Amino acid sequence: MKRRPHILLVGLTGSGKTTLGAALAQALDRPFFDLDEVIVRQAGTTVTEIFRTQGEAGFRRLESRLLRQLCRAEAPSVIATGGGAVLDPANVAEMRGCGRIIRILRSTETILSTVAMGERPLLAQDPERLHRLALEREPVYAAASDFTVCNDGSPEGALEELMTLTNDMRPLRRVLVLSGPSLNRLGQREPAVYGTVTYEALCERLMHQGAELGVTVECRQSNHEGQLIDWLQEADTAFDGVLMNPGAYTHTSIALLDAIRSIGVPVVEVHLSNIHGREPFRAHSVTAAAAAGIIAGFGPDSYGLGLTALLKLLSSQGQ
Ligand code: DQA
Repeated sequence: MKRRPHILLVGLTGSGKTTLGAALAQALDRPFFDLDEVIVRQAGTTVTEIFRTQGEAGFRRLESRLLRQLCRAEAPSVIATGGGAVLDPANVAEMRGCGRIIRILRSTETILSTVAMGERPLLAQDPERLHRLALEREPVYAAASDFTVCNDGSPEGALEELMTLTNDMRPLRRVLVLSGPSLNRLGQREPAVYGTVTYEALCERLMHQGAELGVTVECRQSNHEGQLIDWLQEADTAFDGVLMNPGAYTHTSIALLDAIRSIGVPVVEVHLSNIHGREPFRAHSVTAAAAAGIIAGFGPDSYGLGLTALLKLLSSQGQ
């Protein structure tokens, strides 16, 4: 079951993200979230008050945490971000990993002519500030986004363009990364063999790599064979492919071999160490017979290379 990506709108304050986002969500029958509103609801106070009591750093921390929550929610939604959320590359990586980012572009002249009449009197009083913001932020919005929709003309036209883009979006691929026994101890476990990168850092890297490649990466680790089997079975319907380091089960587990054979999505086997250059009992992989391919010996990079290989394979299969 592939997931339809979230749609994330970015753009200057006054560009129309909230109005367009709400209309798009309604047309698509999806939930709509305005990040600033979510923050205000969660904090139980206004943005100005959060800035006053916790400073901008406190506001940004809250913003990143709530954005992550929205991005990680299963049900596809439309999310309008605050004008500053994309300034943090970690937020952009999170957004890339869960959806498509659409920039709403509206000229400062149009923004000023509309806000002058409406709800943003501060902007109208200080047009220079908006020009400065535009100069500073538009390049960041452009770099972060997958598409741009102009909102200088009629709102109906912009909405129609958004609808067309949304209909053309292919579902996001999802990759499950499974790690077997003792891989949670990476970093401390035999560093001379497995290196010093921790399991958490490895997952972080993979999620970023996935975000850059436009796929959602989910990492899970278990010391239990049965748990790994359950997750493989789940992957058959919930993911497009699996990257798996079965750890020591590689060399013993007919049960994992059978589980891989029982599912329809490809499994790429990875190992940090070169299992062929170590003790003889590691040279044979029981599970590899069912894998689409195996990569071993490149330390944490084996996972990254495995992810690239898996995505190439999925593309060649037209998935
Ligand atoms: C390993 C190699 C296995 O032999 C060992 O039992 C592991 C890690 C690797 O990634 O190099 O746990 O799979």
